[in-house]
Amino acid sequence: MLVAATDPKALWYLTRSFGLVSLILLTVTVGLGVAQLVRYARPGLPRFLIAGLHRNASLLAVATLAVHIVTAVADPFAPIALIDAVIPFIGRYRPLWLGLGALSFDLLIALVVTSLLRQRMGLRAWRMLHWAAYACWPIAVVHGLGTGTDARTGWVQLLYVVCVGLVLAALAWRLSTRWTTAPVGRRLGGAAATAVIVVSVAAWASQGPLRAGWARRAGTPSAQLAPGAPTPGSHR
Ligand code: HEM
Repeated sequence: MLVAATDPKALWYLTRSFGLVSLILLTVTVGLGVAQLVRYARPGLPRFLIAGLHRNASLLAVATLAVHIVTAVADPFAPIALIDAVIPFIGRYRPLWLGLGALSFDLLIALVVTSLLRQRMGLRAWRMLHWAAYACWPIAVVHGLGTGTDARTGWVQLLYVVCVGLVLAALAWRLSTRWTTAPVGRRLGGAAATAVIVVSVAAWASQGPLRAGWARRAGTPSAQLAPGAPTPGSHR
């Protein structure tokens, strides 16, 4: 609250920057998760180190997300309640796009908790749940594009492209490795489904968040769109 007292826009800047940092950390977590899965190791980079980095990156992502969420809720500009951050699609502010953030956050918490309880729940159940990791990441990307102020900023777009590229490369690595036991047909199906998702998200982004007037179409309450609305009234 001290930050908010110094600059009314400080909370908004914190929400945006910690959202982007969280996305980077989630991307790194996915990459390290795949490296762990394919049993990648190098002389200076043993497997236990990759496993530790993977765990710590995910925990750090939870910590940065906590800041992202608390600052978003505390920002007086948008009517976001703490419950909107946990239960998806119930809020008044951009319900779909914010709801995807809540969904992604719930999945991440489920992943972290089940990983901490891994010894107790058995490898099979844990593996099934860990598939949710593949859903958590793209849902977060669509949330960021759908409700982020910076989706139309050049360097942020580059950041999204790099994150998507890294996860696609990790996925290709995962599908092509000898550690993948799935039959070729299933792997090709997975690759084709991924291509369809990437193209669909790119097409949606070009027609939606990357175009002027998205704030209204995204479901911003009219009070926040009115001229002279409270700070930071410059939200797209
Ligand atoms: C895994 C979960 C999440 C990730 C990775 C994530 C990441 C992001 C990213 C990358 C942005 C775009 C920032 C920008 O354009 O500068 C964003 C925007 C935003 N997120 Fe999240 N988010 C998550 C969950 C949540 C949740 C649960 C809430 C609920 C309070 C939330 C609230 C917001 C808000 C209000 C914005 C718009 C900020 C603005 O005005 O630009 N996010 N998020």
